[in-house]
Amino acid sequence: MTGLNGKQILLGITGGIAAYKAVELVRLLKKAGAGVDVAMTDAALRFVGKTTFEVLSENPVITDLWEDSHGSVAHIDAAARCDAAVIAPATANCIAKLAQGMADDALTTTFLAVTAPIMICPSMNTHMYENIRVQRNLDLLEKDGVYILDPDAGDLACKTVGPGRLPDPWFIADRIIRMLCPKDFAGRQVLVSAGPTLEPIDPVRYVSNHSSGKMGYAIAKAAEMRGAAVTLVTGPVCLDPPVGVDTICVQTCQEMADAMLSKMDGADIIIQVAAVADFRPDRQETLKIKKISDQDRMTLTMVQNPDILQQMGEKKRQDQFLVGFAAETHDLAANAVKKIQKKNLDMIAANLVGVRDSGFKADTNQVTVFMKDGSQTDIPLMDKKAVAHILLDTILTRLKRTS
Ligand code: C5P
Repeated sequence: MTGLNGKQILLGITGGIAAYKAVELVRLLKKAGAGVDVAMTDAALRFVGKTTFEVLSENPVITDLWEDSHGSVAHIDAAARCDAAVIAPATANCIAKLAQGMADDALTTTFLAVTAPIMICPSMNTHMYENIRVQRNLDLLEKDGVYILDPDAGDLACKTVGPGRLPDPWFIADRIIRMLCPKDFAGRQVLVSAGPTLEPIDPVRYVSNHSSGKMGYAIAKAAEMRGAAVTLVTGPVCLDPPVGVDTICVQTCQEMADAMLSKMDGADIIIQVAAVADFRPDRQETLKIKKISDQDRMTLTMVQNPDILQQMGEKKRQDQFLVGFAAETHDLAANAVKKIQKKNLDMIAANLVGVRDSGFKADTNQVTVFMKDGSQTDIPLMDKKAVAHILLDTILTRLKRTS
């Protein structure tokens, strides 16, 4: 699952100052493809008007149990049709009522009728949030299977500093998508590498490549969404670290080798996506190499880097699944099959470099998957996030077959 296409989200908004963030949240949920129903308390309506949410959600907002609903019971319909229900922000009062199963307004009544997964995003003054009674109610809800999204810590509108701030809307949306993802990787440890490596020449120059890290990051994120414990070892890229993923930043091939090999023992599935530099300058100058005006050439001697994937293939245990990536300019299939043998891989995902909208930097990719047993599957051009999920599906099918 890469977004919220076809999903229906019920968003409850209660009366905290962070209610304004719910405006952006509705926009993000709609952008991710979801249909949104909004329920608001009277206090929430004092912070943000109902019209804003009606326009953004393209649905009537539930505020009153007694409004004319033309024959249907609006709040029960919204509760029945949602795939996930979220309260953001959730006040101490609303949390207390939900924990006790109270239904004394439109929002709490609607939420009591929800059978889909529920997420609560507490947001309040730090002392209120840390109050034993609020914590007790949150524990009760958690025991009932409600997912509690911890508040951020920082400067609060009430001038206190500490936990209680509603997380950013993009983060809440990300966790809603995760809540709806099947957790078919639960209990699995996934180690992924991504991005280029950077091999210094001197303090200001380096040798690297065009890898953006998008494919590796998409795989790490997809695995996390599907319940895996994920470690990502990344070369320098311009991407935000994926939420919920243990991210280790490295620069050189040697640093990536050290990180991957030290984390390898604890991993069930290892996916080496990084575009590791095959060569590095044989020495790194400590001072900047100066331009010499009468010399129009300079020679750089390169030495071979360790092949991390090869080393992992040699160390691999029977119960570990090792995946490589290969960017080729020609002879895709022959090279991929050769690499599976040579590097002792279970699977390789190969793509042709230079194909439009595929490979380095693009948001989309077109790969062919080769398995150890000689089978091969073409994945047509699609978003890298979707490719990531298909690759994980393929790995999971293979693991289930061999276990
Ligand atoms: O043999 P080739 O470099 O084309 O194989 C590509 C695969 O090997 C990729 O998965 C890449 O991450 C990995 N690789 C590596 N260490 C290197 C070079 C490539 O792990 N030094």
